Amino acid sequence: MRNAGSLAEVDPDIAELVRKETERKELSIELIPSENATSRAVMEVCGSVLTDKYCEGYPGKRYYGGCQYYDEIEKLAIDRAKEMFGAEEVNVQPHSGASANLAVLFGLLNPGDTILGPRLDHGGHLTHGSPVNFSGKYFNVVAYGVNLDSHLIEEHEVRKLAEFHKPKVIISGMTAYSRQIDFEMFGRVAKEVGAYHFSDVSHYAGLIVGGVYDNPVPHADIVTTTTHKTLRGPRGGMIMGRGDLMKKMNKAVFPGFQGGPLMHQVAGKAVAFKEALTDEFRIYASRVVTNARELAEALQDQGFKLLTGGTDSHVMVVDLRGTETTGADAETALGKVGITVNKNTVPGDPRPPAITSGIRLGSPTVTTRGFRTEEMDRIAEFMRAAIDAAGDEAKLANIREKVVALCRNFPLYDHGPGRAHR
Ligand SMILES: Cc1ncc(COP(=O)(O)O)c(C=O)c1O
Repeated sequence: MRNAGSLAEVDPDIAELVRKETERKELSIELIPSENATSRAVMEVCGSVLTDKYCEGYPGKRYYGGCQYYDEIEKLAIDRAKEMFGAEEVNVQPHSGASANLAVLFGLLNPGDTILGPRLDHGGHLTHGSPVNFSGKYFNVVAYGVNLDSHLIEEHEVRKLAEFHKPKVIISGMTAYSRQIDFEMFGRVAKEVGAYHFSDVSHYAGLIVGGVYDNPVPHADIVTTTTHKTLRGPRGGMIMGRGDLMKKMNKAVFPGFQGGPLMHQVAGKAVAFKEALTDEFRIYASRVVTNARELAEALQDQGFKLLTGGTDSHVMVVDLRGTETTGADAETALGKVGITVNKNTVPGDPRPPAITSGIRLGSPTVTTRGFRTEEMDRIAEFMRAAIDAAGDEAKLANIREKVVALCRNFPLYDHGPGRAHR
């Protein structure tokens, strides 16, 4: 018989950990730029009966019976994604951003082919060609970096490498780059050397849908994104692109790399996409950028140095080179006061990746909970105070109390599980 007991009855240990995590998130300032807080509706569908079903294949062509409602769900997700990005075809089945990128690279290339992607230590992602990732193991990788003074991507660097190495794929898109990426330039260079332009907008997707960051779709052959960062959906990935190429992408996703799609997550994507197509979301996206710009200004007023001197998006990287504080030290001190960030290498970082000389911050979650520019100024004050007080537990505890008080004024989960709509 199906067990009808609640989580607390069936597994009090896990239930207690969920409660603790809810409290941690509620009472801390979440500045990790790749996270967000999904709505109650998204959480509801991701925790629904849809978690049970096998639906290998695509709408209308499944390898299992009983998929009629799942076909409708997946078609809704696809149609909404097309509307959000103006894409010709979409695949909403990748389990994650990394799975989407895996499918794209193997869908477009043969092992040993050359790709030109952004350097991991200059803000790219592991799946863009890092030697420890499938992308670096199976393909011949050439990497472009940013200018070491301006920390900006430069067209002549991308073009020089593309002309010399003649890659089959050029990747645009970053994981720690705060400025507008010139997707049109990447598309132009790719055309000139006969490469595919593959753009990974995992970080910027919500800003693109909200109309505050350029859309690569008109300039790229294939675009991937995660659905859980600025797009504020459930964890997952998605691939968009030209109709002719998408046939290959679909085959690469299934049966190439995945079995049954996670249909509860696909349904969660559909719900999040519906939310993202509202005027409310456009306002949200624009506030994410306004808040990030304010935080960048306020941090600089507090004496922090930022790569590129600011941001055009939701993300920024604090450059701690030339100070006593490492990225790891800052992450620890900020963690103690309830400000969650991640340490991050900066271009040309003299410290190893487990220590680093930077921290990466972003505004998506704090904007979801209703923080505005005033609160950004307070975050910068707390950050300065916490980093200066590193090692002084009494001072850190005092700052922690202030962080908790601020968070209590902007509850995330005041209406039960799921974000309060602000
Ligand atoms: C640019 C970029 N691509 C891909 C990914 C991978 O996404 P996932 O963690 O869902 O595999 C990330 C995640 O941080 C990312 O920033």
